Amino acid sequence: MDTRAKPIKIALLGCGTVGEGVVRLLRQNGANLASRLGAPLIIAGVADRSLAPQPSLGLDEHLITRDAAALVRREDIDIVVELFGGLQPAGDLILQAIRCGKDVVTANKALLAERGAEIFAAVAEAKLAIGFEGSVGGGIPILRTLREALVGDRNRAVYGIVNGTCNSILSMMTEHNVEFGAALEDAQRSGLAEADPTLDIEGHDAAHKLCILVTLAFGRSLSPSQVYTEGISKITLADISYARELGYTVKLLAIAKDHDDAIEARVHPTMIRTQHLLARVSGAFNAIYVYGDALGPSMYYARGAGMMPTATAVVADILEIARQRLAAARTGAYPLGYPPTTVRPARVKPIEDVVSEYYLRFMANDQPGVLGRIATVLGKHDISIASVIQQGRGVATTVPVVMRTHQAREQNLRDALAEISRLRIVDVAPAFIRIEEEV
Ligand SMILES: NC(=O)c1ccc[n+]([C@@H]2O[C@H](COP(=O)([O-])OP(=O)(O)OC[C@H]3O[C@@H](n4cnc5c(N)ncnc54)[C@H](OP(=O)(O)O)[C@@H]3O)[C@@H](O)[C@H]2O)c1
Repeated sequence: MDTRAKPIKIALLGCGTVGEGVVRLLRQNGANLASRLGAPLIIAGVADRSLAPQPSLGLDEHLITRDAAALVRREDIDIVVELFGGLQPAGDLILQAIRCGKDVVTANKALLAERGAEIFAAVAEAKLAIGFEGSVGGGIPILRTLREALVGDRNRAVYGIVNGTCNSILSMMTEHNVEFGAALEDAQRSGLAEADPTLDIEGHDAAHKLCILVTLAFGRSLSPSQVYTEGISKITLADISYARELGYTVKLLAIAKDHDDAIEARVHPTMIRTQHLLARVSGAFNAIYVYGDALGPSMYYARGAGMMPTATAVVADILEIARQRLAAARTGAYPLGYPPTTVRPARVKPIEDVVSEYYLRFMANDQPGVLGRIATVLGKHDISIASVIQQGRGVATTVPVVMRTHQAREQNLRDALAEISRLRIVDVAPAFIRIEEEV
């Protein structure tokens, strides 16, 4: 390294979980990073409302400020790293940084899913750079892979286990036979789930990440409100056991498919074959499975969140942008793998038109002929049954009737289930889980 090389100066907005990881990694690997880059990377300021000085991390009092906007405007800052999270003030600070000529790194999937188009357009117009690898899959370099390594292929489908909280809960239910509530409490005790877990367990976090994946994989933009989103809170241990009996594992999948005229974009509990690689992704790990015309399937797997895994993605973005800065090679053109002006809004196939196979569970009255009546209604709606699990009659007044269907249109299934519910032969609303055989 040229010892006279001008350092690249970083402003860090937010020194919580990921921010602290970035500080640690830049400190631990500083010499190595400087020699890879040809110039030192230094943290020139940290904005955080509650951070106290931490000399052991090199965070002295003079580096810390409560005034993020003033830090972003500082002339000596080259790269603004936004790790506040949330929509505001993070969004306005990023736009302010771009107006001030700073490159940006963020891991904020919620913000990019909601305001990505505006932010990417601003970056392109200012001919700057933005990195956001940490926003999807934590330590998995999936965005760089879609943007660069798979650029020669035509991506057709993406299946992601992209929420570690949901995957931990489902793994706990599957591997230790515990109900959802107990698995959630365990995840909260071990720090894998927030005190308010709604964003994760209802699938919204995965939907944010799917919006980003769709843009990079297919060059189409969409907002979280266009993603059919269903969480895992209604999954029961009984469903997981029946799934196992049928040869499947239940995962919260973020699914996107490109059908040329429209895309599918949905997040919901999904049954996949137990021997599939995705079914073996356990606990807080994430994986993204991509199917391309030329390459066929490929899968990317690593820790999907947490301090140091996410920090590796953020620091890689910082280094890449610092390299571009030193080479004066930033164009703002391809942060999404496509010029932002060519990224058109996606036409999203309504969930009612999606064709899938289904797992169905009815709590049916323990009377002769019930199975036949259910099958008749399903048949009337063009739904054929592939297999049935029916337990022997016993002392209970209702018995579970479990079925796997062949492919059916979702609207037909919903109509059939509504009709079956009206027959008064089933106790509670029938449960259904989509099965993904194509993956
Ligand atoms: N944690 C992960 O594993 C992970 C993985 C991938 C991506 N991400 C993304 O990375 C970003 C940061 O996540 P995180 O887990 O590091 O969050 P975090 O632990 O809550 O850290 C955020 C830090 O920023 C501070 N902060 C937030 N808003 C502020 C404001 N307006 N003014 C001053 N300080 C403010 C917070 O202070 P207080 O503590 O006082 O609120 C906190 O110290 C988020 O966008 C998240 O989605 C996180």
